[in-house]
Amino acid sequence: MARKFFIGGNWKCNGTTDEVKKIVTTLNEAQVPGEDVVEVVVSPPYVFLPVVKGLLRPDFHVAAQNSWVRKGGAFTGEISAEILVNLGIPWVILGHSERRQLLNESNEFVADKVAYALSQGLKVIACIGETLEQREAGITLNVVAEQTKAIAAKISNWDNVVLAYEPVWAIGTGKVATPAQAQEVHADLRKWIHEHVSADVAASVRIIYGGSVNGGNSKELAGQPDLDGFLVGGASLKTGEIYYINWRN
Ligand code: G3H
Repeated sequence: MARKFFIGGNWKCNGTTDEVKKIVTTLNEAQVPGEDVVEVVVSPPYVFLPVVKGLLRPDFHVAAQNSWVRKGGAFTGEISAEILVNLGIPWVILGHSERRQLLNESNEFVADKVAYALSQGLKVIACIGETLEQREAGITLNVVAEQTKAIAAKISNWDNVVLAYEPVWAIGTGKVATPAQAQEVHADLRKWIHEHVSADVAASVRIIYGGSVNGGNSKELAGQPDLDGFLVGGASLKTGEIYYINWRN
C-alpha cells in the first residue's frame, strides 16, 4: 500500500494569538492536494491548541509538541496524553531533538512516552536524528537505529507512528540535508526496520524528513523514494512559505 505523504508544521515555542490566527487563515485559504494525497498536521504550542483546532480547516489536523510519559496526576507543568485525547487532539510530537538535548530525554524515556501516548489513542510523530559530531564520526545509522530500537522494544503496533528523521545539524541552521543524504538515511533506516521489526512495518511506516525544509528545497527532497513527507519548523511559521505543502509544484 502506498504511503500517504505527510506534512507536519512544528511551530515550536513561537507565536501570539494574532500570529497563530494569521497562519491558520493562510492554511485555510491554501490550495493543497486533497486529504487522500497528503496529510497535513500543524503543531502549535499547547496553549494555542484549542484555538487552532477550532479555526483550522477540517482536512488539516493538530498535534501537541509533547505529552507526559505516564498517566497524568501530580506532575506540575506537564500535559498528559489523556488531556490531549479529552481535547480531541489526535497527534503528538515526541522525542524532538530539542527535548532530547535541552531536557535530557533519553531514548528509553522517549520510547516510554511513545508507548503511553499510543496506548491512549494518540498518533505519534517520533523524532530521531544524529548530531553533526555523530555524522562526522560515521555513526549516523547506529544513532537512529538505537533511537528506533528503543521505541520498537516498547510498541508492537506501528500503524499510528510516523518517524521523523531530523538531523540535528540541519535543524534551524539553513543547512538542509541534500536529497541524497536524506534518502540514504531513510533507506538505511527502512532496511533496519525490515530486519529488526518486520517487512510489513518497513513497507508501511512513514519516514519523514525535518531540518531547514522550505518551499524552495521541498520538491527535490520529496522526490526521494524513501522520504514520505516533512516536519517543517521555521518555514511553517512564515505565511509566505506555505509552498512546501505543494511540494510537487
Ligand atoms: O520539527 C521541526 C524541525 O526541528 C525542523 O526545524 O525547519 O526550523 O529546521 P526547521
